[in-house]
Amino acid sequence: MGVDGLRFVITGGAVGIGAGTARLAASRGARVVVSDMNDEPGQALVEEINAAGGDAVYHHCDVTDESQVEGLMAAASEAFGGIDILHNNAGIHESMISKNLSLADMSRDCFEKVMGVNVTGVWLCAKYALPYLRESEHASIINAGSTSSLSGYPQCQAYGASKGAVMQLTKMLAVDLAPDGIRVNCYCPGSIHTQIVDKFLAAAPDPKAMLNTMTMTHLVPRMGQPIDVAELVCFLAGPESQFVNGAVWGIDGGSLAWRGTLDVLGMEVSA
Ligand SMILES: NC(=O)c1ccc[n+]([C@@H]2O[C@H](COP(=O)([O-])OP(=O)(O)OC[C@H]3O[C@@H](n4cnc5c(N)ncnc54)[C@H](O)[C@@H]3O)[C@@H](O)[C@H]2O)c1
Repeated sequence: MGVDGLRFVITGGAVGIGAGTARLAASRGARVVVSDMNDEPGQALVEEINAAGGDAVYHHCDVTDESQVEGLMAAASEAFGGIDILHNNAGIHESMISKNLSLADMSRDCFEKVMGVNVTGVWLCAKYALPYLRESEHASIINAGSTSSLSGYPQCQAYGASKGAVMQLTKMLAVDLAPDGIRVNCYCPGSIHTQIVDKFLAAAPDPKAMLNTMTMTHLVPRMGQPIDVAELVCFLAGPESQFVNGAVWGIDGGSLAWRGTLDVLGMEVSA
């Protein structure tokens, strides 16, 4: 039951939510390929997991590079004899590339880079994992959406467009891969405390006001943590979720359930 014995490929798994998922899945008996462009923390994570008794390997891969993606899936299959779970986690926000985030100032190159990692990368990984997933009896693809898949935010034109596309791509793949018995789901996190959020805040004109905007909508009055999302990914990967397909799961502390901020309820954000 659970993810015990399942063979994971996690893209962008060196830090943040991907790393949290790798740790949790491995602690529950999954065999995990951690993949990233950021090799040093990725390799350190794998050492940490293996030292704790887990089973993980690291493989360098830029998800926008088709031959590297093809190589990742082949290497993962060679390492563990196949692939059961593709966790399409790698993602970037435009604030990681540029300080010019308005429509007037953002470059086409910046917009296309975000779409390249967040959308084309997801599609490429699904494409090259497919032959291996077809051989699995527990195959599923789990895509990282965002609350910006569903709602508007400031300074998120490329990111929000890309995450909306990931949500729709999830549904299209769920349909097309149903005959192969491959489930495809997407989850939409609220604000989860990782470096992507720290960089987004640093780029905001008023970081404190932006942090407030982000967390003051969480009915669970705190930032999310990578472990919160990792628990959902493990559920979506495991056999307990076998009737869940083409779904878009919120994991946002309730932020999209309403249109207010915590002060209306006399609440404050806790640490
Ligand atoms: N943190 C949040 O609040 C939040 C909210 C909603 C959705 N998400 C999504 O969750 C996913 C993980 O986010 P995170 O917060 O852990 O981010 P993060 O920045 O901490 O980690 C992202 C990882 O992706 C890797 N990466 C970037 N470009 C890559 C590429 N081309 N190929 C391979 N790897 C690449 C980075 O090296 C990094 O290790 C992203 O898709 C993100 O959009 C995060």
